[in-house]
Amino acid sequence: MRLPTPATPAVSHRAANVRSSAIRDLLANARVPGMLSLAGGLPEPSTFPVELLAEAARRQVLEHRDVLQYAPTEGDPRLREHIAAYESVRQSRLVDPDHVLVTTGSQQALAMAAGVVADAGDTIAVPHPCYLGALQTFGAAGLVIHPVGTRDGQLDLDHLEAELVGGLSIPAMYVVANHGNPDGTRLNDATNRRLAVLAERFGFWLLEDDPYRELWFDDAPVAALGSHTANVLSLGSFSKTIAPGLRVGWIVAEGDARGALVRLKQAADLHTPALSQALIADLLDNRGWFVSHTDSLRALYASRRDAMADALHTTFGSRFHFTPPTGGMFAWGELEDVDTSALLAGALAQGVCFVPGAEFEAGGPSLGSWLRLSYATLSADQLHEGVRRVAAAVELLDADRESLVATS
Ligand SMILES: Cc1ncc(COP(=O)(O)O)c(C=O)c1O
Repeated sequence: MRLPTPATPAVSHRAANVRSSAIRDLLANARVPGMLSLAGGLPEPSTFPVELLAEAARRQVLEHRDVLQYAPTEGDPRLREHIAAYESVRQSRLVDPDHVLVTTGSQQALAMAAGVVADAGDTIAVPHPCYLGALQTFGAAGLVIHPVGTRDGQLDLDHLEAELVGGLSIPAMYVVANHGNPDGTRLNDATNRRLAVLAERFGFWLLEDDPYRELWFDDAPVAALGSHTANVLSLGSFSKTIAPGLRVGWIVAEGDARGALVRLKQAADLHTPALSQALIADLLDNRGWFVSHTDSLRALYASRRDAMADALHTTFGSRFHFTPPTGGMFAWGELEDVDTSALLAGALAQGVCFVPGAEFEAGGPSLGSWLRLSYATLSADQLHEGVRRVAAAVELLDADRESLVATS
């Protein structure tokens, strides 16, 4: 007897159309022996507070079995107190711990926020270039992406205002407050105030993502958007300051938005792992530790920024256009006459990887000759060697192009 051919069920259109993260794909390459990765924004592992975490883990597991039990969706009350105190300083206003919801990294906060502020088919404004994980999440939520460019290092709000006056309708705008990924943009006080005015005038939410806030090198950051408007959902993370593998982030929200976020969180994963939350709360009980820890992170990443800037300058001279970032983990620049997506294959062959600018395109002008280089994970010597390998790949690409021209 012939069996009928089994009918294969399909994945949904929405899932099939979610773009893959080039960075996650590249991280697989980063594990190849000898590969120098300038791709991911991976914190320097030697900064992970392993001894403190090991002590806290032993204490928590042996003395507080609750950390192995199901836990409240909103998060560990002790950790929420710490986050509320931090957010009160960040937003220059008193933030109630009840308004803090702990999430599984700020990436989850972003996905939940997208679900709360917009419906599939709605348009969300984002910076161009934009953090890839945000583009992925908003795409997965079925949102249409609307680019907002930059002018003089700030979001071009004149242009956005003209579009809003002209009828652009957005339920939300996504911004990275400090040292934006990939381009290092840092929103100043005037931009924040104007964003707040526009959000209130046109009735939209501001999704303010601020994972790099503590990684500033020159001036401390300005007061966050929450000090200017209530139309804001504030996202934060311990990934860049403590350890990303713990997967602990948060979102601050009030009223209906808070209730909706809690319900979405319940539907997604019930709660963030209680052990991770307890470990971080234990570390933060020692406020002095967090202050000196973030001081040393700033010193380390500033020295790596310098090493990267030096390597780029000595290797490429004026061919690489970039402004050294004032914080964060990334150098973002343009390599004259180079298609950086094409360059990547050659770079991988040379033993180095980076993220091509096209990956961050949000619908604005082409970023095909731009690239993002992370200086967070490698030593100064490795950064010099990594940039040398990128330059070797550029030379080969130039030579290929010249030989094509010669034979055509
Ligand atoms: C701008 C931005 N937002 C959010 C995230 C997600 O961070 P996490 O989920 O680890 O908190 C990242 C990670 O690199 C990021 O660069």
